[in-house]
Amino acid sequence: MQSKISKCVFPVAGLGTRFLPVTKELAKEMLPLVNRPIISYGVEEAIASGCSEIIMITGRAKRSIENYFDRSFELEELLKSRGKTELYEMMIKISNMAEILFIRQREPLGLGHAVLCAEPVCGNEFFGVALPDDVFINESDPVLAQLIKVHEKMGGSVIALEEVEPENVSRYGIVKSQFEIENGIHKIIDMVEKPDVNDAPSNLAIMGRYILSPSVFEILKGQQAGAGGEIQLTDALKTLCAQEPVWGFVYKGRRFDCGTQKGWLAANVQLALEDPELRDVILNAVK
Ligand code: UTP
Repeated sequence: MQSKISKCVFPVAGLGTRFLPVTKELAKEMLPLVNRPIISYGVEEAIASGCSEIIMITGRAKRSIENYFDRSFELEELLKSRGKTELYEMMIKISNMAEILFIRQREPLGLGHAVLCAEPVCGNEFFGVALPDDVFINESDPVLAQLIKVHEKMGGSVIALEEVEPENVSRYGIVKSQFEIENGIHKIIDMVEKPDVNDAPSNLAIMGRYILSPSVFEILKGQQAGAGGEIQLTDALKTLCAQEPVWGFVYKGRRFDCGTQKGWLAANVQLALEDPELRDVILNAVK
């Protein structure tokens, strides 16, 4: 069963402990990546992939994300009255970027639980999920759009995969592929969250983009907490792939892991070096 993917869920209710003490008060998704917040990259990708409805699963400390995508009348008026037209237009563009719905996850019970919070909106449709910590750069073909194409061709759910070094498998959900049907498209028959390198079924790691079948909601409802005491999405997908087709797709593009301080800093330096206006600033600072 193929369907048009119009909804993309952004789970952003996590505590961001790897960014403490910053995330004691700040949403990590609002940290800047060169010239805009991390969350903006994911939302832009979803829109460029054809999604018209963005659903954010938020928590108590994430009000700044809601405010960022909302209108700010005082600021707009001030910018207009001072003749700062370019900035004024930038503010309007951000608040008109997408139709965004916010749902509160009252307790951070895990990524799987956060996805379940989207059920009232997603209902019986296939939907996208984007974890904003993973920032993908592929100007021509956004990674979510690549997954949507696989879904349109094969039906079923689709997970973004990346081949990782053996020493890194214990950081990710790792899949077992039954076969590779064509270039980069794997039939998934099992998966495990953060395995020990000796128990890992492959080095194909799950990255933060998914197209999911609505059947995942029923599975999540009955699911117990797994690794880290959290309701894990990977555990639900393990059950799903025994019931329905789940495809993995080795995406094309570059990924920046902005979920850790080191990854976020490195991403800023790397992307700033690629920006003609910032390149010399960074090189001079490093000198
Ligand atoms: P992470 O496992 O990266 O957790 O969640 P985190 O809380 O964001 O960060 P650390 O590990 O404490 O530093 C993966 C994604 O799932 C969301 C997070 O916001 C992130 O986008 N999430 C996680 C929720 O929305 N709710 C949860 O209960 C847990």
